[in-house]
Amino acid sequence: MTYAAGIIGIGSYLPEKNLTNQDLEKMVDTSDAWIVERTGIRNRHIAAPEQATSDLAYEAAVKALADADTKPEELELIIVATETPDYKYPSTACLLQARLGAKEAACFDLSAGCSGFVYGLGIGSQSIASGLYQKVLVVGAETLSRIVDWTDRNTCVLFGDGAGAAVLGRVEEGYGILSLDLGADGTGGKHLIQPAGGSRNPATHATVDAHDHTIHMDGQDVFKFAARKMPAACKKVLQKAGLSIDDVALLVPHQANLRIIENAMARLKIDREKVWINIDRHGNMSAACIPVCLTEARDAGRLKKGDNVIAVAFGAGLTWAGALLKWAK
Ligand code: UT7
Repeated sequence: MTYAAGIIGIGSYLPEKNLTNQDLEKMVDTSDAWIVERTGIRNRHIAAPEQATSDLAYEAAVKALADADTKPEELELIIVATETPDYKYPSTACLLQARLGAKEAACFDLSAGCSGFVYGLGIGSQSIASGLYQKVLVVGAETLSRIVDWTDRNTCVLFGDGAGAAVLGRVEEGYGILSLDLGADGTGGKHLIQPAGGSRNPATHATVDAHDHTIHMDGQDVFKFAARKMPAACKKVLQKAGLSIDDVALLVPHQANLRIIENAMARLKIDREKVWINIDRHGNMSAACIPVCLTEARDAGRLKKGDNVIAVAFGAGLTWAGALLKWAK
């Protein structure tokens, strides 16, 4: 016996502080014109010094729980997708569990780069479908500003901080997650990496001096991977569910670069009105992008019961992830 599983509540949180392209012009050799033309980004949010990833996650989770009319004690599993955990251990999911008072929920952090939230959606929904759990919290939360090299114009203009959360539960038959496509190409790992701080290159004065605790990226390699994999993952989930792109009410793509999104729109032949884009306002928040987009779309009245929605992402790993949902609320 399997159960239909889907999103029953969502919420998001963005730190108050804004960092505009004009601010960045004063920090590195860049320009508003270059950033807007090459990425589509105009602004990003930056966590306050006292805010860590679990603090952002908490704010989003509280809203998602209220939206789902769910008490923290009902949660049986908490997954936090992040590349910027508060600590190496304990997991940010455990810190969040304690703060929420979600007594005894199983907890783990999920490292799949920007695909992390959709990976979490997949794993969380399958644990409900199998009957193992009834209520699962999936969070995508990042404080990328803490691992950005603020002297590297190739990367520092791209990223921002934020969090989004979804409560998953049993839904009406035929609704919720209809199909998934989760995958990775580990041979591309070197293209997007934080080289130091793990067991390969533990922290030393030399690794700090070399800025090896920050994001290192071969932008064009990641771009090519994304351009190929985002449309492919969308086609895969549609094919698995026996639907076509015309059946999709809303496409929610990972927000890494407007040109990557436009490329995917062209390959999929989907109109811009059906695609949620907020990269101009928030930049790339890695695992937080998709749940923040979903929350904004819901708030704008763009998610109605029965709508087919695709969430699709790519990221460090290199990973990709697509999920097709029939909106259940
Ligand atoms: O979520 C997953 C994470 N990452 C991604 O998805 C990133 C995917 N890749 C990209 O979005 C793009 O590759 C970037 C936005 C990172 C770069 O855009 P690009 O069109 O691939 O530029 P490029 O790396 O080929 O650089 C072109 C030029 C270079 O100058 P030269 O060598 O031609 O003189 C760069 O040094 O633009 C220069 N450049 C900049 N100029 C002004 C790079 N960054 C900047 C900057 N401001 N911020």
